[in-house]
Amino acid sequence: MNLPDDPPGPAARAARTAPDGCRPASAASTSSRDRVAVRLARAGCVAADDEADELLAAAGDDLAVLDALVARREQGEPLAWVTGWADLAGVRVRVRPGVYVPRPQSAALALRAADLLPARGVAVDLCTGSGAVACVLARSRPGARVVATDLDPLACALAAENGVEVYEGHLDEPLPVGLIGHVDVVVTVPPYVPSTAITFLPRDARDHEPRLALDGGPQGTSVLEEVVEAAGRLLHLGGTLLVELGGDQDAALAGALDAAGFRPPRRLEDADGDLRGLEAHLG
Ligand SMILES: C[S@@+](CC[C@H](N)C(=O)[O-])C[C@H]1O[C@@H](n2cnc3c(N)ncnc32)[C@H](O)[C@@H]1O
Repeated sequence: MNLPDDPPGPAARAARTAPDGCRPASAASTSSRDRVAVRLARAGCVAADDEADELLAAAGDDLAVLDALVARREQGEPLAWVTGWADLAGVRVRVRPGVYVPRPQSAALALRAADLLPARGVAVDLCTGSGAVACVLARSRPGARVVATDLDPLACALAAENGVEVYEGHLDEPLPVGLIGHVDVVVTVPPYVPSTAITFLPRDARDHEPRLALDGGPQGTSVLEEVVEAAGRLLHLGGTLLVELGGDQDAALAGALDAAGFRPPRRLEDADGDLRGLEAHLG
């Protein structure tokens, strides 16, 4: 997930003006692929050619199915909901309407969590959604135990389909008590968009993805603060919390991390130097 810039920043402007980014339609073209790409471009899809390829692959040879899939995308449904799958760090997971679509920018956090997870260790993915982050960990550390939670029953059902040991409920509450104090890595992509900024998200997210997956409260840090407390209960001394966030939310979380017994965290930044997450060790 990307935090939208404060209005009227570039992300907000981009969100409002997405159709302007469309590539020009090629009316002369007659192939299915080109016809689909033209429809997608007209609907405001900025990567119309790539999306056309994905929709063609999802439809197989069935033109009626293809038409229905394209129509859903034209209505703004997230591409991954329409195709039924998403990729995170090379791991393909099922996705479906109603459940947050894993974002490529979460891959670095998931891979860092996998690096820190001992071969036979224990990891917890809080707010697992489709279970994509948990799947990356399980793929990287097949001998480890990876468990997950989510408040949304739809998400839990999907994560279970993706092979994740998932428990339904608020953060760490539904987990087996035997895990408390024995976890090596807690990783999470929680909802962290400030409530008032949701309107500036791209249309796919704003109009389709569940608010529960996005809305982090007035500052975006309401769930983040509870995540820190939960991680403090779950981790053993020296264990690691990896949490996705953005903007300047690291400052807002510093007090909670200190109070829960974490050492000063390391900032995880993307190639542009923007804050993408925190890595914090307990004790
Ligand atoms: C931003 S999505 C991330 C999903 C997944 N980790 C990913 O990266 O694809 C946040 C998820 O947190 C879940 N969620 C929101 N509040 C929660 C809470 N209090 N406890 C557990 N899960 C929660 C939502 O249902 C949603 O699936």
